[in-house]
Amino acid sequence: MNPIVDILSLDQEGHGIARIDGKVTFVDGALAGERAEIAIYRKHAKYNSANAVAILKASAQRAEPRCKYFGRCGGCSMQHLEPSAQVAAKQRVLEENLARIGKVKPGIILPALHGPSWRYRTRARLSARWVDKKGGGLVGFREKRSSYIADMASCEVLTADVSALIQPLRELIGQLSNADRIPQIEVAVGEHVTVLVFRLLEPWSDDDAAQVRAFAETHRVHIWEQKKGPDTARPFWPDIAPELSYSLPEFDLVMPFKPTEFTQVNTGINRALVSRAVRLLHPQAGERIADLFCGLGNFTLPVARSGAEVHGIEGSVELVARARENALRNRLPNAHFAVDNLFEMTPEKFASLGHFDKLLIDPPRSGAIEVVKSLPESGAPRRIVYVSCDPATLARDAEVLCHVKGYRLEAAGVANMFPHTAHVESIALFER
Ligand SMILES: C[S@@+](CC[C@H](N)C(=O)[O-])C[C@H]1O[C@@H](n2cnc3c(N)ncnc32)[C@H](O)[C@@H]1O
Repeated sequence: MNPIVDILSLDQEGHGIARIDGKVTFVDGALAGERAEIAIYRKHAKYNSANAVAILKASAQRAEPRCKYFGRCGGCSMQHLEPSAQVAAKQRVLEENLARIGKVKPGIILPALHGPSWRYRTRARLSARWVDKKGGGLVGFREKRSSYIADMASCEVLTADVSALIQPLRELIGQLSNADRIPQIEVAVGEHVTVLVFRLLEPWSDDDAAQVRAFAETHRVHIWEQKKGPDTARPFWPDIAPELSYSLPEFDLVMPFKPTEFTQVNTGINRALVSRAVRLLHPQAGERIADLFCGLGNFTLPVARSGAEVHGIEGSVELVARARENALRNRLPNAHFAVDNLFEMTPEKFASLGHFDKLLIDPPRSGAIEVVKSLPESGAPRRIVYVSCDPATLARDAEVLCHVKGYRLEAAGVANMFPHTAHVESIALFER
């Protein structure tokens, strides 16, 4: 017989937490305050993993998932929780991490940045596969806890145009002679153009190429092909492709990018996040500011609009070239860029960059511990705005900033960059 449990709280991945004879049990699909019948699918020494098979007492915050593939598709994990409660849960995750790992408490909690919960994704990496048994192609996200591709024909978080392409893409894959040699289709939606980048393990035959061109024309998308790493991606149809771009109207900026280059997934929340970051940083003409992990200049160029001298540093040669082009294009000669591996930062290297009045940091999930540890005792930037995609590494770095480097955590808050997922994007302001 299946156990019946009371769900005590929600973990950082959006699983309900219950206890069975004292042993922690993480329950997929159940919310805090609920009573659920569960099926345990894995027993570990210290905890169990389970699925909710029936909700016997539902939370007032439970929502009807909009997507019919929810529960099987691994793309979303929280559609069963009201969007506003998702944001509150993410805020709690941020505060708990700061307290537990960082031993810090923000002076103020910034109001969460949130926007539409559906149709927000302008970037996605869809897996593709030819499946003999299903007699056709599959295109979509992977199933939960599995390497199989979800059998899906639409997606509620992708833009409507891209969602409507999933079924036609499945049909296209099913017709191509090299269907089993296309493992991935990357999607990038710009303001005027949508690009699909086909990862090709072997070139298209002439027949296949003709079918792909016809697909591009019928569905008004641009197709790129990528034969090896991301820098091998090239326009396939049309061969001279109009550029992808996004804009930041508040700063009068247009940002062209290549479909394989990093851009934030949620264009609306990105605008709000950039705006908040600039407001918190409060750049002034005459200041010297660094933007570390600057990518294509998403924060650097808005900061440079203030007239401050801004130095963007980034590990990717391609992104730095793109950032320089974007600075030129937007007439910002006060934005400068350099390539460097910031995971190898040292106090000597940091000192050699010269004095910075302020710092903006937007690292990958692994955080910026080497940068933080390299800040000087005297003459350190007086203000740091830290944009984070992992609250645990933000909290780890905050501990060093506040307990070793003499900063105060003035403010912190979340941005709901990825509604319906457990992903927590946040922003924090440090001052000394
Ligand atoms: C979260 S993204 C932020 C990019 C940019 N700030 C934006 O908003 O588009 C993190 C960036 O860190 C860069 N990166 C990753 N590892 C790095 C390293 N070791 N040194 C320097 N940059 C690195 C990535 O190329 C990526 O552009």
